[in-house]
Amino acid sequence: MDVNKEELFDKVVNLSKRRGFVFQSAEIYGGFRSTYDYGPVGVLLLRNVKEQWWRSMVQFRQDVVGLDAAILSPPAIWEASGHLTNFTDPLVDCRECGSRFRQDKLEDQNKCPSCGANSSFTEARQFNLMFKTNAGPVIDSAAEVYLRPETAQGMFTNFTNVLNTSRKKPPFGIAQIGKSFRNEITPGNFVFRTREFEQMEMEYFVPPSDSDKWFEYWCKERMDWYLNLGMREDSLRLRVHDKDELSHYSRATSDIEFSFPWGWDELEGIANRTDYDLNQHAKASGNRLEYNDSGSGERYVPHVIEPAAGATRTAMAFLMDAYEEEEVNGEVRNVLKLDHRLSPYKVAVLPLSKKDELIEPSKEVLNLVQPHWMCDYDQTQAIGRRYRRQDEIGTPYCVTIDFETLEDKAVTVRERDSMHQDRVPVLELIEYLSSRLVP
Ligand code: GAP
Repeated sequence: MDVNKEELFDKVVNLSKRRGFVFQSAEIYGGFRSTYDYGPVGVLLLRNVKEQWWRSMVQFRQDVVGLDAAILSPPAIWEASGHLTNFTDPLVDCRECGSRFRQDKLEDQNKCPSCGANSSFTEARQFNLMFKTNAGPVIDSAAEVYLRPETAQGMFTNFTNVLNTSRKKPPFGIAQIGKSFRNEITPGNFVFRTREFEQMEMEYFVPPSDSDKWFEYWCKERMDWYLNLGMREDSLRLRVHDKDELSHYSRATSDIEFSFPWGWDELEGIANRTDYDLNQHAKASGNRLEYNDSGSGERYVPHVIEPAAGATRTAMAFLMDAYEEEEVNGEVRNVLKLDHRLSPYKVAVLPLSKKDELIEPSKEVLNLVQPHWMCDYDQTQAIGRRYRRQDEIGTPYCVTIDFETLEDKAVTVRERDSMHQDRVPVLELIEYLSSRLVP
């Protein structure tokens, strides 16, 4: 059954709340706008998205190493990076109703979307998106610090540390996953644009003359990552930025866009940042940030290709892409057809009934399986309803222990998408699941 695009958004938001993917933050206090908490199932999906990114960007490569840099950072970093001056959005207020908007996101530059007033906007002011706070007990300008608005700068400021300790040489990359903060004027569309979010970024340092080649390479590599994790081809596109869209540091940028219910929007940006950041930090800090080949005597400032993705935004896109409704025996089945590597739980262990004689063997099966995979265990309600619940959170395999298990020492394994069932001896269960749940 086709899910109508307009309804998909509400259905996924509703599912997120109902099944424990995402909750409104501070809900018991009426909710804190634009911040979200990831529930028991959502935290697993988000971890899996990040884990798959880390596997492909770090674990499977000898040319990329990881980093986990601090979130609090001194103004000097943001002055050198250009964020203090350039990381702004144009802000306008409606004189009639007081609502605030990002001018560049207004559909009609003269009409207020809140109250409908015409020509009621103030002149645009540049509004800096960084969150500022104070370190230590004294609140004065000397104690001002910023919450990072991107993870990237930690990779530039640690360039020499990583070069000296990892024994890498260009082309090589530094990858990081972590929280970033932006005081967005118009957050919205659920977790798509929030003020606190997670990024997955990699800075790839290359010889200057190779930068165009590596830019193309990373555009393709990143596109393949989404496809390989099961995202539909027609949900994705690569969009080349026009010259007037480029960030202050970029020579070329392409966005990987996803077809969200409201239209195409950005999932990830791949930018050629040239030697901008290393030069800026070298100038501001007085430290040389360059590569020096002791063998050939060659010395240069590498150029940087940066694939920068949002983890929280990507998790939401995978949810939307995987959501399906099917008619089964006259009833609608909601199913998240997530690639099993992203599924929150890989296996659900379900005793057919709550009767005591089934509980002990079920716990034994659970103990057998849970060292290998994230498992859910559920012994209440009719088995059909429990299957539907697992379908709706994307669990690829349900293992049912029934009264026959007591005789034949075998269990029923049901696969989510086909709903096909196999009878599998308990002794062969790990092998059966291992051959299907490849990491
Ligand atoms: N270092 C480059 C950089 O930060 P960006 O395009 O501003 O580039 C990269 O951010 C990715 O981070 C975006 O493609 C998006 O997925 C995610 N992102 C950015 N702002 C976000 C926000 N307010 N809420 C959720 N995700 C966001």
